Amino acid sequence: MGMNNDRREFLIKSAKIAGISLCGCVLSSIIAACDNDGETVAPPEQPKPENYPVLKISDYPTLSSVGGMIMVIVRDKNNKPVNNGNPLIIFRIEQNKFVVLDSICRHAGAQVVLPSSPGGDIFCPAHSAKFYSSDGSLKDKGSASGDVPSLLKYNSVFDPIENTLTIAI
Ligand code: FES
Repeated sequence: MGMNNDRREFLIKSAKIAGISLCGCVLSSIIAACDNDGETVAPPEQPKPENYPVLKISDYPTLSSVGGMIMVIVRDKNNKPVNNGNPLIIFRIEQNKFVVLDSICRHAGAQVVLPSSPGGDIFCPAHSAKFYSSDGSLKDKGSASGDVPSLLKYNSVFDPIENTLTIAI
């Protein structure tokens, strides 16, 4: 029973990192499958969580309090920049919750700029589009023609014990 609970927690945590929601029945079937063949669950097409970049929040004083937001190039464990070398926007929206967004506007590829005050809008200087900093969704398309997609959002998991943020990218 304890083993299944441990596996359940591991699966939920892994799925959250991968941006997947697991219902109870799916969890049960995965756990049952594990019990049958003795192997851990790691879908081959998914990036492995252990390869995700892990940020030490203590390295970024701006993120030490709720409302802090930075734009930073993030490197994986092999010191290779992720997100094609483009910075990520990291916003501490709650004590234990962060929002991670691509800093590249998907309308025409300009780099957005951070809001001037906590919780303000992210701004794209190319066509004056504005995005909600809470989730990267479009607030105002400004002078842009055609569709302006939301900023790409990446799932992340904060570990309050280690004070680290793991980003699923
Ligand atoms: S490139 Fe951002 S609104 Fe056009």
